[in-house]
Order: sequence, then structure tokens, then C-alpha cells
Amino acid sequence: MKSAYYVVEFLVLVEVILRGGEALSMNYYGMSCPFVEPIVRIVVNQALHKDPTLAAGLLRLHFHDCFVQGCDASVLLDSTSGNTAEKDSPVNLSLRGYEVIDQAKKFLEMQCPGIVSCADIVALAARDAVFWAGGPYYDIVKGRKDGTRSKQEDTFTSLPAPTLNTTGLINVFSQHGFTVWELVALSGGHTLGVARCSSFKSRLSSFDSTHDVDPSMDPTFAKTLLNTCSAGDSAAQPFDATTNSFDNLYFSALQKGDGVLFSDQTLYVSPQTQQIVNFFAMNQAIFFFNFQQGMMKMGSLDVKEGSQGEVRANCRKIN
Ligand code: HEM
Ligand SMILES: *[C@@H]1O[C@H](CO)[C@@H](O)[C@H](O)[C@H]1NC(C)=O
Ligand SMILES: *[C@@H]1O[C@H](CO)[C@@H](O)[C@H](O)[C@H]1NC(C)=O
Repeated sequence: MKSAYYVVEFLVLVEVILRGGEALSMNYYGMSCPFVEPIVRIVVNQALHKDPTLAAGLLRLHFHDCFVQGCDASVLLDSTSGNTAEKDSPVNLSLRGYEVIDQAKKFLEMQCPGIVSCADIVALAARDAVFWAGGPYYDIVKGRKDGTRSKQEDTFTSLPAPTLNTTGLINVFSQHGFTVWELVALSGGHTLGVARCSSFKSRLSSFDSTHDVDPSMDPTFAKTLLNTCSAGDSAAQPFDATTNSFDNLYFSALQKGDGVLFSDQTLYVSPQTQQIVNFFAMNQAIFFFNFQQGMMKMGSLDVKEGSQGEVRANCRKIN
């Protein structure tokens, strides 16, 4: 009996070595860094207490990280003399929250040096930011490793443009394995934060051959957006009336024609997604449940495990 036990143990060991280390799990840092979650939460809560608008920044950072090359903290790497990083792509428009990740990393390096990946910190910080803003809480697996590639050009093909219609959005999201429901639920991340005029001004003049202004917009809201843009390309327009609260008002705004980006309003215009928008606008719990499922899936996109990646000492540089 005992020898059978050793055979099993040996096979498990071989499997772990072949896979290049441990797989993702809820309890990944259970022995090596048991306080990782409270440490990240404290840092995030302190930062959001000072600047509540950073909740949006932290959520978007995680989205941009996961959609480009998987959730491997590639979005945090600084450009070097030979390489223009994702961070410096034009689509980075106002990515924020890097200092919060650095701060969490600093404390984690003091507590358990070389153990916790930057990719896990980004995923935890986004989760904690959503919860802090009143959104759903969900458990996330840990054990993502940090990647070494971060190239500006990767962002052009992997991230959706705000000018896409529903067909285009479904294409991009399905390339990453998401369903139409998950596309609409994750778009609900726009319940937090703002967009700059440069991201939606194409809706406001010479929209197409027959319309000056995007006809899917409510006319009064079009005036609001024009007014925002009178302050210049970097003027910010909140996605909904409660910009720092995670709620379902984003979907109610879409029903009224008050979506800020073309890619927001298209979800209500398209018969393929209109009913889903209606569900989420009517019942916040349905939205929260679907958002939570979508985030857990997003947080596992093309994750690097074991020897496929490293644990960076500094989130902005490869080791
Ligand atoms: C559906 C396709 C999506 C498109 C086309 C899109 C595009 C954009 C654009 C253009 C902005 C404004 C950038 C600026 O002008 O400063 C923005 C902001 C934002 N996005 Fe998305 N996004 C999408 C999906 C998502 C998802 C899935 C999430 C997270 C779950 C997300 C979270 C955010 C947040 C929180 C902001 C506000 C950032 C801030 O206030 O600092 N977006 N997005
Ligand atoms: C975004 O990219 C531009 C260059 O396209 C760069 O100047 C800017 O610093 C970047 N922003 C962030 C927050 O990294
Ligand atoms: C969506 O956009 C694509 C590419 O721009 C276009 O070919 C297609 O006709 C559009 N679909 C709808 C329903 O407007």
C-alpha cells in the first residue's frame, strides 16, 4: 500500500515539474504569503479614500492587462530604449492607478519578498476597487505569473475601439472567448469613470453621409457632449450620473440614448443585445451576477503559470 502511495506522490511531482509549477488556485499564497489579500485591500481602500475616481482606473487597468497577451501585468511595464510598451499606446488614453499597484507591491515585498506577482496584484486591486465602489465581491484564483513582453502594437489588435458597433464588439470579445452576455455585462464596467472628448467626438460632427450627429444619441444628451467637448479633447464626460458608484445606471442611461461612447450606445441599438441591456437596467442583481462571472473569466485569460513567467521585483520592469 505504501509503495502505491509513493508512486502517486511521484506522479504528482512529475506533473508539477512538467507543468512548470503550481496551477492557479484560491489558496495559492496560503503558505507563502497568507496576508496578500488584506494587504492589497488596505492599500486600495486607502488610495480610494483619498481619490475615489481611482476605482475606475484600477478596473480598467485589469481589463487592458488581460485583453493584451493575457493577465500578466504587461500593461505595467515601462517602455525601454528599444521597446515601446503597451502603456505608451494611443489606446492607453488615461490609464490610471499604477501608483496603487506599486504601493501594494512595496508592502508585499516587505512581507514576503519575491512571492506575489504583479499580475495577481492587478487582479486583486480591480476586485477590491469594484467592491469598494458598491459592486459585487467575488473570489479570484491566484498564481498568475508576470510576463516579459509588452508591445504597443499588441494593443491595436486585442483591445476594442470605441467606434465599434455590436458586431465588431462581439467579434473582439469572442476572440477572447466571451459570450454576448459577457460582453454586455463587462461593458457595465463603464458604470465607473469617464471618457475624454477625443474618445467620442466623432459622434458629434459629420457622423456619416446622412447625419451630422450620431442619431442613436438623445438630442439633449448630444448637447451635453458638445458642451463637454467645448473644453477640448481631454475634457472628461462621466459614463453615468454616479461616476464613482458601481451600479446599473449605465444601462438605464443606454435606454435613454445617453451612452457616452458609440460602443456603449450600440448595445442598446442592436437587437442582439438590447434585451440584455433591459435585463441589467431592470435588475441590478442580474447585472452583478453576470459581471462577477465575466470578471472571473477575464481574470483567467491566457494566464502564465509556473515557469511560463516570473515574479517581478518591480512591477514596471522585467527582472
Ligand atoms: C466593450 C468594449 C470597450 C470599449 C470600446 C472601451 C473603451 C473605453 C474608452 C474609449 C474609455 C475612455 C478612455 C478615455 O477617453 O479616457 C474607457 C474607459 C473605461 N473603461 Fe472601457 N471599454 C470597453 C470595455 C471595458 C471593460 C470590459 C471594462 C472593465 C470591466 C472597462 C472599464 C473602463 C473604465 C472603468 C473606464 C473609465 C476609466 C477612468 O475613468 O479612468 N471598459 N473605455
Ligand atoms: C500613453 O501614451 C502616450 C503616448 O502615446 C504617453 O505620452 C502617455 O504618457 C501614456 N500614458 C500613460 C498613463 O501611460
Ligand atoms: C458594423 O460595422 C461593420 C464594419 O464597420 C460594418 O460592415 C457593418 O455593416 C456594421 N453593422 C451594422 C449592423 O451596422
